[in-house]
Order: sequence, then structure tokens, then C-alpha cells
Amino acid sequence: QSVAAVIPAAGIGQRMQAAIPKQYLHIGDATVLEHSIRAMARDPRIGAVFVATASDDRWFAQLEIDLTIPVVRVEGGATRAQSVAAGVTAAQRAGYRYVAVHDAARPCLARSELAAVIEHGLEHSAGALLALPVADTIKRGSASGYALETVPRDGLWQALTPQVFSISVLLDAWRMIGLDDPLLTDEASAIEALGLQPRLVMGRRTNIKITQPGDEVIAAALLPEILQ
Ligand code: C5P
Repeated sequence: QSVAAVIPAAGIGQRMQAAIPKQYLHIGDATVLEHSIRAMARDPRIGAVFVATASDDRWFAQLEIDLTIPVVRVEGGATRAQSVAAGVTAAQRAGYRYVAVHDAARPCLARSELAAVIEHGLEHSAGALLALPVADTIKRGSASGYALETVPRDGLWQALTPQVFSISVLLDAWRMIGLDDPLLTDEASAIEALGLQPRLVMGRRTNIKITQPGDEVIAAALLPEILQ
């Protein structure tokens, strides 16, 4: 049990237009966040789950989390990177050397994907992330909604989570580039800015991020298959 899971869950999920943040929407018997926490706890190398929530979060305390490993709440920040940093710092204080960072909004993580990314993350000094080769044709669009050009998709990957890193490497990266860079939409981008190359580990197309209204319906349809 050498890896701590860190789940940033302090976002307000503006794009969902829901009355409650998307991580607290229900899918079947549990909220999106509970499914994500359970998914991370399914690998025996995960020793604890640190969940970063907003300071005025009213929902986390009501979750009924029934796991054999500790689930620890930490206070998140104004940006995703700050929320992740709060969780990573807590994990380091608890004695962990590695973290697996996973979006609260990705409840359909399969056990096999998690196992693979942890394996590569522990083996490779620059860490590892789940990712998918881009399958669609990619356009650059103008602000007014017209196609300007087609971006060659060769070598393009879509970054998913979990992303697994040594805590000391991740803290070094953040010290170099700070936590406020708008390009820091995942943790691997901080490592890349150090000049290091995290390993891309093939994820599954089912590992979707709940982002827009209706995504929770897709997740509900995917979950039974994921859990098999
Ligand atoms: O908005 P987006 O879907 O990219 O958010 C990804 C994850 O980061 C979500 O799980 C969200 O709750 C989290 N987040 C956070 N703190 C913020 C903003 C986002 O923990 N300030």
C-alpha cells in the first residue's frame, strides 16, 4: 500500500447547469464522487484516499463511505491544481511517496486501467497517465464558429485520469512553474514543463468525464459493465 489516491472534488461544475456540483449527482446507488472513490480503492496498492472539497461543501459529510482504507477530506483551492496540491501535501505528511490523482468526475474507471497506470507510474521516474489516441478529426475553430484548419491527429492523445507520480517529482514541478498556470489542466503537464516525459498508458473509452447534462445517463449505462 504505497500509493495515495488524491481526488480533486472542489469544482462547481458550471457546465452541468445542475443545482448541485456534478460530483454529487446520483448514479444508481451512489454519487459520482462515491463511485470514483470506490474505483480507486479497488487496487490493493492504494492505502488511503484524500478528497479535496470546497471550503463550503455541504455534501461530502453526508456520504456513507464504507471502505476498509481511510478516506480523508482536505480543503481544496480555487483551481484544480491547488486542490490537487492540497491532497498531495496531505498524502506526503501521511508518509506516502506516490500519488494517483483521479478526477472526481470520472466514476467509470475500470480496475484493469487503474492497475496498469499504477504499474507504469511506479516503474517510470516521470510517472504515467491514462490516455487515449485521438480518434476523431480535429479542427481549429474561429471564435465565431467556423473551421479554420484541420489539425493532424497523428501523435495526439486525450489525457484521462488517474495520473500516477512520485510526490517529490510532482512537488518539484509545481515549484518550478507554480500552480496558477492556466495550462495546468492536469498533473502530467507540470511534469512535462520540467522537461520530463510521463508514460502514456492506454485507457478505455468508457473512462468518461461527467461534464455536460446527460453524461450521468451514459455513465449509468457504462457502470455495470465496468464493475464486472
Ligand atoms: O472542471 P473539470 O471537469 O476540468 O474539473 C476536473 C476535476 O477538478 C473535478 O473533479 C473538479 O471537482 C476538480 N476541481 C477542484 N477544484 C477546483 C476546480 C476543479 O477540485 N477549484
